Amino acid sequence: MAPVEFLVTGARGQLGRAVMSAIAGRGLAATGVGSAEMPLGERGAIEAAVGTHRPRCVLHLAAATNVDGCELDPLGAYRSNGLGTAWLAESCARHGAGLVYVSTDFVFDGKATTPYPVDAAVAPLSAYGASKRLGEEAVLGHGRADFWVVRTSWVFGPGGRNFPRAILDRARSGQPLRVVTDQVGRPTCTMDLADALLDLWQRRGKGGIYHAANTGACSWHGFAVAVLAAAGLGHVPVGEQAAAELKRPAPRPAYSVLDTSRLDLLRGRPLPDFRDAIRRYLDLDAAAAPPPSAGDGLGGKRY
Ligand SMILES: NC(=O)c1ccc[n+]([C@@H]2O[C@H](COP(=O)([O-])OP(=O)(O)OC[C@H]3O[C@@H](n4cnc5c(N)ncnc54)[C@H](OP(=O)(O)O)[C@@H]3O)[C@@H](O)[C@H]2O)c1
Repeated sequence: MAPVEFLVTGARGQLGRAVMSAIAGRGLAATGVGSAEMPLGERGAIEAAVGTHRPRCVLHLAAATNVDGCELDPLGAYRSNGLGTAWLAESCARHGAGLVYVSTDFVFDGKATTPYPVDAAVAPLSAYGASKRLGEEAVLGHGRADFWVVRTSWVFGPGGRNFPRAILDRARSGQPLRVVTDQVGRPTCTMDLADALLDLWQRRGKGGIYHAANTGACSWHGFAVAVLAAAGLGHVPVGEQAAAELKRPAPRPAYSVLDTSRLDLLRGRPLPDFRDAIRRYLDLDAAAAPPPSAGDGLGGKRY
């Protein structure tokens, strides 16, 4: 099989779809794989995928992303997100492929009061965060110039089951909205993140850790207010809620604003403001297939 530019894991996920489309938009070739073709729990399947497709670069987006689910099944999370990533990094090193591993703001404990630089101390609060950190260590441990860890946060994109979609569904069905005020982060649109990941590879940024997120920071409450305003639903009241009231299995950092300056410097510009990203997302999401219900509407997989 002729080598491709990219092998994309988690290609059918929320970020994966945006990445596949951004790659096509740049006229490059990619093979996308999901859990059926390349299960992260199977070392042989990972080696076969990299060995068969011989990508120049693997964009590793696949992960167990249900934060509360990971808390209830930490071994499953460590196997997929930690060990699976370690096996993939080994295969990439063996076949001379670059590796971009998408990680998370949940590697931080949220005790900071200013944005987290790439070299800030990590202290994950949850099994999900710890499992993603294991993946980071496995990638960074190779010390390769063409291996990158890109931490991002509060991801949303067209067609995905995500926070803006849950807020809009609930507002449009007339259900009351109460949203968390005591967690602050940087919403990030899959389309903008996809561009940043491809830029990192194409510009061959120095190996190591980067932070990628849309410009601006807010609480989940502020995020909800911004989504409703952009959708012409600014009149819908949004009540306030403390995170502790949700009694979720997995703790989340109270403050996980990422300092993106290293990536901004490489690209010569920051990612767009998150309010601008919400507007573009709303335009595209209206055309995308409706996602499955997110249970209580706000208790979705990641946020
Ligand atoms: N969503 C966020 O807010 C957020 C924030 C920070 C970082 N991230 C990171 O960003 C990346 C992409 O997230 P996303 O929102 O696009 O997640 P997503 O929509 O849940 O997609 C994740 C994909 O991973 C694949 N996957 C799950 N378990 C797997 C396994 N055991 N073996 C192989 N593939 C498996 C799934 O493939 P199939 O569909 O084929 O089953 C799925 O499409 C993840 O690495 C996540 O940790 C996300």
